[in-house]
Amino acid sequence: MKLTILGGGGFRVPLVYGALLGDHAEGRVSRVTLYDTDADRLTAVARVLAEQAAGIDDAPVVVATGDLDEALRGADFVFSAIRVGGLEGRAADERVALDEGVLGQETVGAGGIAYGLRTVPVATDLARRIARLAPDAWVINFTNPAGLVTEAMARYLGDRVIGICDSPVGLGRRIARVLGADPDRARIDYVGLNHLGWVRGLWVEGRDELPRLLADPALLGSFEEGRLFGSEWLRSLGAIPNEYLHYYYFNREAVRAYQDAEQTRGAFLREQQEGFYARMKDPAAPPLATWDRTRAEREATYMAENRDVAGAGEREESDLESGGYEQVALALMRAVARNERTSLILDVRNRGTLPELDADAVVEVPCLVDANGAHPVAADPLPYHAVGLVTAVKAVERAVLEAAESGSRAAAVRAFALHPLVDSVSVARRLVEGYTRVHPGLAYLGRS
Ligand code: G6P
Ligand code: MN
Repeated sequence: MKLTILGGGGFRVPLVYGALLGDHAEGRVSRVTLYDTDADRLTAVARVLAEQAAGIDDAPVVVATGDLDEALRGADFVFSAIRVGGLEGRAADERVALDEGVLGQETVGAGGIAYGLRTVPVATDLARRIARLAPDAWVINFTNPAGLVTEAMARYLGDRVIGICDSPVGLGRRIARVLGADPDRARIDYVGLNHLGWVRGLWVEGRDELPRLLADPALLGSFEEGRLFGSEWLRSLGAIPNEYLHYYYFNREAVRAYQDAEQTRGAFLREQQEGFYARMKDPAAPPLATWDRTRAEREATYMAENRDVAGAGEREESDLESGGYEQVALALMRAVARNERTSLILDVRNRGTLPELDADAVVEVPCLVDANGAHPVAADPLPYHAVGLVTAVKAVERAVLEAAESGSRAAAVRAFALHPLVDSVSVARRLVEGYTRVHPGLAYLGRS
């Protein structure tokens, strides 16, 4: 199998490659093509992969290229993991929103809309190109905002593009663990959009164990989301939200904490990664320490930096096992390539799963995956509070898609103004002004 990674110079590519190195079964990925627009980043990451592959006989062959067409031809799988505008762009997405007093975050609220407006045109071009050059390839979208970007690509790739996120599976596993259940045997009832979903049940041998968790403050206090939201609120809600819902349920606290922080998350990561890429440019640089440790440290810093708002503290080391984007992506590839039927929470077209949304709306729901792709499984109706958020945010995403397609500034203003975390149309107008000023990639938005 041939895998092409768009955004092949990205910081997380070694994690993906590490996961591939652990797969020795028939039908595994034997060739990885890295494509990136930045030659230095590509060289740096190719060098790390060579280090990882040293001494492993069946390590997948790695090819790096700056030629997109060459990268796509003959691909069985394409991972789309691009970051339009880089981390500098992300930092600006965060900063402009925070200066206007609203949430500045990579995927949620105003920051996420700005990122979507910048990314959708590029992702759409890639989708068209893939449809032409690799029409049979399966495309796994890692690019955030993952639900929105997957929907944009699905207009050209149909059900051949599948979006992924590690947060639902991570949450499900943490809940299973505190309940003493085997995470691999529990069925998680999780529904919503990407970074906007709720665990409503955890079924083990025909029994829903979630009520037992909700009734027990000690158990609720023993895992990350339990501490983040607090047992009282979770009991009242009757579900466990994805950690990103913290930005909705505790919006003021989150905005204030981000405004008080010395740096935005994007600015922090930029500094950190600049150091890495600079080091890798030096041919005499020593080999990296094991990538897994680097990752654990990164994740721990992330939790400490960003989630302390509600005293959530650091993510425990054990939470990092078997989660992660790379594991979800590998499980998905295996299921499709080898027809190994499995169940995964993925971003796919709705097709009636949530009756409030139309068939083409990309949702994040449990799916059965096999050689024919990912098929969403039937879900119980959403409670009204969730219907409200999910339909409002889907309306925002549709306005982003409209703006990206037509260049309409009015549609861009509508996207910001309709978001539940943007509290005034005037703020939305100023956000569009502010973002078009700092992002050259938004020059396509016209005057009306
Ligand atoms: C979670 C989310 C991802 C996000 C990641 C890292 O895993 O599901 O979508 O990319 O966090 O966020 P960071 O702030 O480290 O870039
Ligand atoms: Mn995610």
